[in-house]
Amino acid sequence: MSPARFEPLAREIFALKKQLNAVILAHNYQVPEIQDVADYVGDSLGLSQQAAATNADVIVFCGVHFMAETAKILSPNKIVVLPDQDAGCSLEESCPAEKLAALQATNPNFWTIAYINCSAAVKALCDVIVTSGNAERIVNAAPKDQDILFVPDENLGAWVMEQTGRPMTLWKGNCYAHVEFRRDSLLRVKKQFPEAKVVVHPESLREVRDLADATCSTEKMITYCKTSPAKQFIIVTESGIIHRMQKECPGKEFICAPTFDAMRAPTDNCRCSECKFMKMNTLEKVRDCMKNLAPRIELPETILKRARLPIERMLEISARPN
Ligand code: 13P
Ligand code: SF4
Repeated sequence: MSPARFEPLAREIFALKKQLNAVILAHNYQVPEIQDVADYVGDSLGLSQQAAATNADVIVFCGVHFMAETAKILSPNKIVVLPDQDAGCSLEESCPAEKLAALQATNPNFWTIAYINCSAAVKALCDVIVTSGNAERIVNAAPKDQDILFVPDENLGAWVMEQTGRPMTLWKGNCYAHVEFRRDSLLRVKKQFPEAKVVVHPESLREVRDLADATCSTEKMITYCKTSPAKQFIIVTESGIIHRMQKECPGKEFICAPTFDAMRAPTDNCRCSECKFMKMNTLEKVRDCMKNLAPRIELPETILKRARLPIERMLEISARPN
């Protein structure tokens, strides 16, 4: 439950939702009070599936810019708003479309797989999109006679190579928040909680993934914690996810893994990693973007059309029976 101070704003948001026939989609990293007004909270895969299926006229996307763009690509006739248009992503920034096109031109046999954390212009240059929830499956389905170029997350790419055994050329991008987790600080917290299971997001470094009991997307992390008989979990991802874990797993304890920075300044009480982009959204900004129907996602027709193909391919492969 969110604190009572958020109740008046939440009431305004519910009224606007009705008036606009809007749906509120929120990523697992959003602040608790945003998660609590959302119709759906989930990972990038679940959010794209929701955006493709909704009957709403307006999609209020509480996440970062590339996620709202994906919703617009899947529902081009709907209004898509996001609370803060500056909510970006270090992975998206690392991979400008012109630089990707230049690399693609060096090998006509490249088949490009993009992690969903990239711009619409980059998606428009790719063959298929993946999320952390389906990357292994989609790489396994890639044509065997082509050279895979995987962009823009080198850590997620390295993890997928380990899972599939498929060699890939990796773009040198990373999530600035997840690379803050380090082996030494994780070992220290593991010593403190020896019974705890370590649950790691694949955007993390290999030295951290090597200590994991489970490596998976944010949604799968929640399922893992729900179904595991363990009572304590060290969570190696953005701290916003703890809200759902506490709500959905009563009686279990969640420990935010400390970051490298927190270990350098041990007097600092903050041990969690926060994504500064995800945290740009506030409940006030959710209300305001609904009132103003802005900031609104608009994309050129050519990008909308071309970027839809690799996302649809992803959704189609994800929906195939196992
Ligand atoms: P998932 O929730 O899809 O695992 O992605 C995590 C992330 O970093 C989103 O930016
Ligand atoms: Fe991008 Fe990392 Fe923030 Fe996710 S957590 S939005 S990957 S910077």
